[in-house]
Amino acid sequence: MRTLRTIEEMRATCARLRADGRRIGFVPTMGALHAGHMSLVRSARAQSDVVAVSIFVNPMQFGPHEDFSKYPRTFERDSQMLDAEKVDLLFAPATDEMYPGGAKTFVEVAELSERLDGRSRPGHFRGVATVVSKLFHIVGPQRAYFGQKDAAQAAVLKRMVHDLDLDVEVVICPIVREPDGLAMSSRNVYLTPAERKQATVLYRALNRVQFLVDKGERKAAELVDAAREVFAEEPAVRIDYIEAVHPETLAPVSDVGAGALFAVAAYVGNTRLIDNTLLFGGGKATGPAMIR
Ligand code: PAJ
Repeated sequence: MRTLRTIEEMRATCARLRADGRRIGFVPTMGALHAGHMSLVRSARAQSDVVAVSIFVNPMQFGPHEDFSKYPRTFERDSQMLDAEKVDLLFAPATDEMYPGGAKTFVEVAELSERLDGRSRPGHFRGVATVVSKLFHIVGPQRAYFGQKDAAQAAVLKRMVHDLDLDVEVVICPIVREPDGLAMSSRNVYLTPAERKQATVLYRALNRVQFLVDKGERKAAELVDAAREVFAEEPAVRIDYIEAVHPETLAPVSDVGAGALFAVAAYVGNTRLIDNTLLFGGGKATGPAMIR
């Protein structure tokens, strides 16, 4: 595996590979890698000639009171994990390399960026869309891999690629979970042992919702209420949102019968966690790692 630190080197290397007819599969990350990230890397490995991964903790997508400075950074370990999965290129630029002198140009996916996490994290999806479009321009991948875990992010980026005619196929991979159901996240390391137990409430609420849907419930309001009841079992956990939305537009739906993204976000202690399930397939990202 080659580690590249500059845009110039990464761009030139990827351009040469493309000129040789090699298809590049790209996995953007912020590091602190876990099995969720590695599932994306394995999908890319299976479907591409060259696998490129980026590790960049993107300051632009963190709010002023969020965890940018304490976000876990485990570069040596990450690098070994990627090497073991036969990744070809690791792009790991410094902040100044990506944003010399700050930034005056942004990519904004209107409306979608104000829904779900975008509502609680103003500016977050603008930062995500901007950095991912920069990375796409540097790497020029044929396919790029993202996780269903960040369902709103996936919707925002798909829409960006569509609206800007970017020549890349966005592949969304299923959520990878811990044995007790907690969705894997780089932020899980923040949880104390007590919080770690409480954190399974997100998955428990989604399971309850799926159970009711299997029994015939279609009303979003009923499903949201049922999820709230499960959250009530963990009074220390503070709900940010519980919503049934259209999986592509992220607009709220009142009936889930035509397929919906059921998404939850909650603070466990100071740690904000998210999880979701696609009801009636919602189109994609099914598999053994999903709730059903
Ligand atoms: P990060 O949180 O490091 O996640 C990188 C990718 O891994 C994202 O596509 C995310 O959805 C996926 N992922 C995380 N946990 C997962 C899980 N449990 N199962 C499956 N996939 C999972 O998301 C970002 O970084 C950034 O916003 C980024 C896209 C890199 C832009 O900065």
